Amino acid sequence: VNLLELPTPALVIDADVLEYNLTAMARVHPGSSLRPHVKAHKCTALAALQREEGHHAFTCATPREVLGMVASGLGDDLLLANEVLDPARLRALAAAQDHARITVAVDSAHTVDAAAAAGIRAVLVDVNVGLPRCGCRPDEAGRIADLARRHGMEVRGVMGYEGHLMVLPDAEDQRNRVDDAMDRLLAAHELVGGPVVSAGGTGTYHLHRRVTEVQAGSYALMDSHYATLGHPFEQACHVYGTVISANPKFAVADVGLKALAMDHGNPTVETLDGQGTDVWFLSDEHVTFVPHTGVAEVGDRVRVGPAHIDPTMTMHEVAWLVRGHDVIDRWAIDLRGW
Ligand SMILES: Cc1ncc(COP(=O)(O)O)c(C=O)c1O
Repeated sequence: VNLLELPTPALVIDADVLEYNLTAMARVHPGSSLRPHVKAHKCTALAALQREEGHHAFTCATPREVLGMVASGLGDDLLLANEVLDPARLRALAAAQDHARITVAVDSAHTVDAAAAAGIRAVLVDVNVGLPRCGCRPDEAGRIADLARRHGMEVRGVMGYEGHLMVLPDAEDQRNRVDDAMDRLLAAHELVGGPVVSAGGTGTYHLHRRVTEVQAGSYALMDSHYATLGHPFEQACHVYGTVISANPKFAVADVGLKALAMDHGNPTVETLDGQGTDVWFLSDEHVTFVPHTGVAEVGDRVRVGPAHIDPTMTMHEVAWLVRGHDVIDRWAIDLRGW
């Protein structure tokens, strides 16, 4: 099948660019020094490629992601880097421990107790390193680890996600602030112990020397937000659309808010002959744009570059893998849901 015959909107992954990104990251963080985050693609077929690249341990954001990875035989070492209280979901994770190694993040007595009650065997203490989100204070981490050990659980170490530092304009400032954040994480690690110190993402992957593993995810497919940073990763994933209405002033394609996450701003829209466009706005099913030169015709295809890849993936059931214009595979986005 030719890429241009796909029904649109179509989520399309360029295999050459994907492979280039996977290799570029593995060169900097080979093997177990990268724990790829699957929330960025939600696709076990893509995770399998990351494993072929040498990474056997993965980061997940939801119980559903963990269970989907286990079902696909990718359960060597799964970290649920998120707090869970739901007893049913925790029990499902506990049941999967016979087939996989599963570690759950905890940041409070509540989350420790919930994990223990469900039969979870291993936890990691999530430490707040400055992002106002999950994670305990560094000075609380030892107490949380002790409580988990009293419940008979293995405490594998600490994690701390510095999400507020991923995209900063000044490189020196970013380096210093990531260093400060990691001081907090390592102070907590002193109190917690265990072999794992896990942190980082695509925006800071190059700044980590004091952790045992980096949790980057977006690097594989990238998005136009991260693409501005000058890292050696390129956008591998676009949503292809069809111009369904056009006039001399603007054109409209069938890639709207329901095919594309907008929380990082407008996507890029290019015509297939490589022309840029000015994007006016998106509505539920439409993007309205003006080609820089020439006029778009009804029936033309466009390539839309998402500004935020993770939530874009969750809007699609399938991704089409292409090499050039040849569609070479159909990947289920099979880790959606909670
Ligand atoms: C806990 C955690 N670790 C790591 C990441 C890294 O992701 P990315 O590669 O998109 O920066 C995220 C992203 O939000 C995250 O929530």
